[in-house]
Amino acid sequence: MSKFKFPLLFKGFSESDKKKAIEIIKSGQITMSNITKKFEKEFAKTVGAKYALMVNSGSSANLLAAFASCNPIRKNRFSYGQEFLISAVCWPTSLWPFVQAGLKPVFVDVDLDTLNISIKDLKRKINSKTKVIVLVHVLGLCSDLDEIRKICKKRKIILIEDSCEAFGSIYKKKFLGTLSDFGTYSFYYSHQITSGEGGMIVCQDSKDYEILLSLRAHGWTRDFINRKSTEKKFPKMDKRFLFINSGFNLRATEIQAAIAYNQFKKFKVKKEIRKYNKNLIHKKLISHKKWKNQFTIINENHNTDPNWFGIPILINKKFSKNKNLYLNKLQENGVENRPIISGNFVNQPSFKLYKFKNHNYKKTLKNSQIIHDRGFFIGLQNHKISNNLANFVVEKLLKIFI
Ligand SMILES: Cc1ncc(COP(=O)(O)O)c(C=O)c1O
Repeated sequence: MSKFKFPLLFKGFSESDKKKAIEIIKSGQITMSNITKKFEKEFAKTVGAKYALMVNSGSSANLLAAFASCNPIRKNRFSYGQEFLISAVCWPTSLWPFVQAGLKPVFVDVDLDTLNISIKDLKRKINSKTKVIVLVHVLGLCSDLDEIRKICKKRKIILIEDSCEAFGSIYKKKFLGTLSDFGTYSFYYSHQITSGEGGMIVCQDSKDYEILLSLRAHGWTRDFINRKSTEKKFPKMDKRFLFINSGFNLRATEIQAAIAYNQFKKFKVKKEIRKYNKNLIHKKLISHKKWKNQFTIINENHNTDPNWFGIPILINKKFSKNKNLYLNKLQENGVENRPIISGNFVNQPSFKLYKFKNHNYKKTLKNSQIIHDRGFFIGLQNHKISNNLANFVVEKLLKIFI
């Protein structure tokens, strides 16, 4: 039971999810096996990617995206000291894997109507050292991807979509995550589908897929599709223990796969429910007698059909003086809330620790700072909420003013 009357997510796991997990435990096959493979295949087919690979978190998926993008096997790869562009409103592990792999970060501002990377600022900051762009599809939304893809194609820039908050969102009839070199997803609790911990990475190229397979598990050939043809090249080696690349161990368990796969089968229905809940709360909010334009609720745009992660809200300037106090009170009153990702990441102590070059960020990240100062989000649920509960949320949102 959540201590909040309106948490980010009520019950994350259904009885059938639990049953699937127990079946795996009883079978004894806990490590990655057939259910994972089945889930990966179906995931790829559904989102329209050539390949999908399950990992133990969205962060691990980002780690793979970063290290696959500089792998010696890859023709178009980045090298140490080049730069990557990333929106300042990002999650720590959207950022750090690319730094850990040797790139220098350049933060780009966002647009207030999408919470996503500003193409205008991106064009200002792009230069001959830019080799990677990391898009972060905040809360299920995105920027104008056609424009960004054009820029990347022209300059041979590697494009990554951190879709960890955007599984099931669609841009111009295509699933977010599939419009780039690598797309990543998180199945952490309160995400659109969850296995507690878990994640997925998708790609379109068979060479990239082999790189991901080996990096995921020790640099091993064990999971390769064309394992035999690789093994033939090393006749003197023990085929069972052949390591042809660098690697991590980022495998998920079969239990995680079983739970996530079970949830995955119902995601389209849940997407509509999340949309319904968002619209219901929005409608009630703006028709309430206490409504005085206290908030701007962010809606879909740029040909996007979001699978909403939560309800993104900006407190309008006049009402925003005591935001932290307000959010604490809101939470005390039963409505769980969070900043929009990590706010403007250049404010975080971890950013300051590494003394990266400052691209006049005070001036060039104005919208990200607005999101930092005035943004927050509340949850959405996977079942239709009642009118009473929607009224409760609206009352609490409007009650304690500031
Ligand atoms: C945008 C974004 N990227 C990456 C992650 C990391 O995912 P995980 O918690 O599964 O490691 C998150 C987590 O919520 C996220 O919001």
